[in-house]
Amino acid sequence: MRVPPLQHETPSRAISVETIGMTMRFGSFTALNDVSIKIDAGSFHVLLGENGAGKSTLVKCMMGFYRPTSGQMVVEGREVDAPDPRAAHDLGLGMVYQHFTLVPSLTAAENLVISRNDVPTRIRWERERAALAAFMEKMPFAVPLDVPVGRLAAGEKQKLELLKQLYLGRRFLILDEPTSVLTPAEADELLGMVRGLTTSGDLTCLMISHKFREVTAFADEISVLRRGEHVGGGKVTDLSTADMAAMMIGEKELVRPAARLVHNGQPVLTVSGVTASDRSGLKTIAIDELQVKSGEIVGIAGISGNGQMELMEILSGQRPVSEGAIEVCGAPFHATRSQVRALNVRFLPEEPLRNACAAKMSVAENIFFRDFDFAEGKPKFWLDNRRMAALAARLVGEYKVKTASLDTPIAALSGGNVQRAVLAREFNGKVDLLLIANPCFGLDFSAVAEIRARIMAARNAGTAVLLISEDLDEILELSDRILVMSDGGIVYETPAANADIGDIGKHMAGHH
Ligand SMILES: Nc1ncnc2c1ncn2[C@@H]1O[C@H](COP(=O)(O)OP(=O)(O)OP(=O)(O)O)[C@@H](O)[C@H]1O
Ligand SMILES: [Mg+2]
Repeated sequence: MRVPPLQHETPSRAISVETIGMTMRFGSFTALNDVSIKIDAGSFHVLLGENGAGKSTLVKCMMGFYRPTSGQMVVEGREVDAPDPRAAHDLGLGMVYQHFTLVPSLTAAENLVISRNDVPTRIRWERERAALAAFMEKMPFAVPLDVPVGRLAAGEKQKLELLKQLYLGRRFLILDEPTSVLTPAEADELLGMVRGLTTSGDLTCLMISHKFREVTAFADEISVLRRGEHVGGGKVTDLSTADMAAMMIGEKELVRPAARLVHNGQPVLTVSGVTASDRSGLKTIAIDELQVKSGEIVGIAGISGNGQMELMEILSGQRPVSEGAIEVCGAPFHATRSQVRALNVRFLPEEPLRNACAAKMSVAENIFFRDFDFAEGKPKFWLDNRRMAALAARLVGEYKVKTASLDTPIAALSGGNVQRAVLAREFNGKVDLLLIANPCFGLDFSAVAEIRARIMAARNAGTAVLLISEDLDEILELSDRILVMSDGGIVYETPAANADIGDIGKHMAGHH
C-alpha cells in the first residue's frame, strides 16, 4: 500500500526569531528587563544564566504563555504578535518543556496523532500508523509507540516530546533543559540530531542549558541573561567555558568542596530482603541488602526508570513493602512523622515541587513544614508566624533562594530556586540520615558546586547519606561506595576510590 504524504512532514525551512526590548514584570518584580536577542535561521543557540535569571520567562513570552509587559517579537524579519501558544505554533514555534506534556494513559502513537491541529474526527489508524512508522524511520532513536506513555521512563518520554515537535513540523524549537532526564549517551544522541537538523537548515533551535559540555559540543552561539538582563553572548568558537561562566555569575567565587574525612561509621540505614511492586505494577523491586553507615555517602547509579524512585518511595514510607525489613539505627523504620523527627531523617525526592512542596503555599510556609508543629523539642498547637518568618528569612538568605518575597507561592519560583528552598529546609538542623535523589537537577553550575559541598560537609559531620543520582559524575565525585541499580535490583557494588567507569556503565546498561 502506498502511503499518502501528510501535511506535517519534517520542517521544510528554518526560521529566524528575534526579541526586541522584551520586559516582563510580576507585580513589582522585574523578571526580564529590555531583552533583545536574535536567533539566526538554522543556528543552534543556547540561552545561559543562573537559576532565576529569567530564561524560562523569556521563552514563555516568546511562546505566548506570558503576555510581556512590553517588547516585540520578530519572525523572519517581520514584527509578529503571539498572544497565545496557538498563535506561536502557527508561526512555526514549538517548545519542549522541563516537565512532560504527554497524556499518560495514551500510547506514544496516540499522543502524536491527537497533538495535530489537523487531526480528523475519524482517525484512520492504519494510515496514521504507516505514516508514523515512516516518520520514525527517519529519526535517530526509537520510542515504543504502543505502550501507554505513563509506563515509559523519563528518558523515553523526553525523546517523545522532541519527536512530537518534529512531527508537528515546528521550525523554531525551544528546548528548556531537555537533557536533564537523559543519560549522557541519550543526551548526545538527542543533541546530535538537533545539531544535524540545524546544520541542514531545517530547524532553528534555542536551548536552555546549564551544561557547558553540551554548549561547546553542539551549539554555535550563546546569549547570557543575568538578573533579567541580557549581559552578553557570542559565537561558541570565540568563547571559553570560563568566559561563559564569568558572563553568567560576574565576579562571584565558586564554593570548593571540603576534603573527605576518614570515618569509622556505625550502620544507620539497613535494608534487608525488601520487595515491593514498581510504578507500573508489572515488575518487582527487590533490594536484598543495602547499608549506609554514619559519615558515609553511598551512591546509587542507574539509568532513570530502573527502580531508583520506587526505592526512594519505599524508604520514605510512600510505597508499601511486601516483605523484608528497613531499620534505622537498629530499630524498625516506617518513616512516620514522629520516627523521622526522632531519628533526624531527611528526604529530598526528585521533582521537589510535586513531591516535597505544597505548590500553592508560600515559600515561608514550605520552608516551615518540618517545624510548624514542633519547637525546642515540644509540640506546638498554633502556627507561630514570627518564628516562621524568621526561619524562612534566614534560610532564604543562606541558600540564596531567589524569590520576590517570602509570601510568594513556591510554584512561582524558577526550577532551580524551588530546589534550593527544599534543600534549605531539609539540610536545616541535625541530620543523621539523608536520603536524596538527583539533588542538583536543574541547578546552575555555581549552585551545583555549593550543594555538593554541603552534602560533603554533612557527611564529614557524620551524616549517613544515600545519594540516588542519574548523574554519574556526581556519583563519582561524592560517593564513598557506589552501587548500581538496574531492573529493580542492586546489581553491582564497588568502593568509589578505585571504581571502573566502564564496569559501572555496563551494569547500568543491564549487561552484567
Ligand atoms: N508567575 C510568576 N510570578 C512571580 N514571579 C515569577 C513568576 N515566574 C517567574 N518569576 C520569577 O522570575 C524570576 C525568573 O524566573 P525564571 O523561571 O525565568 O528563571 P530561570 O532563568 O528559568 O531559572 P532556572 O534555571 O532556575 O530554571 C525568578 O526569580 C522567579 O521567581
Ligand atoms: Mg527555568
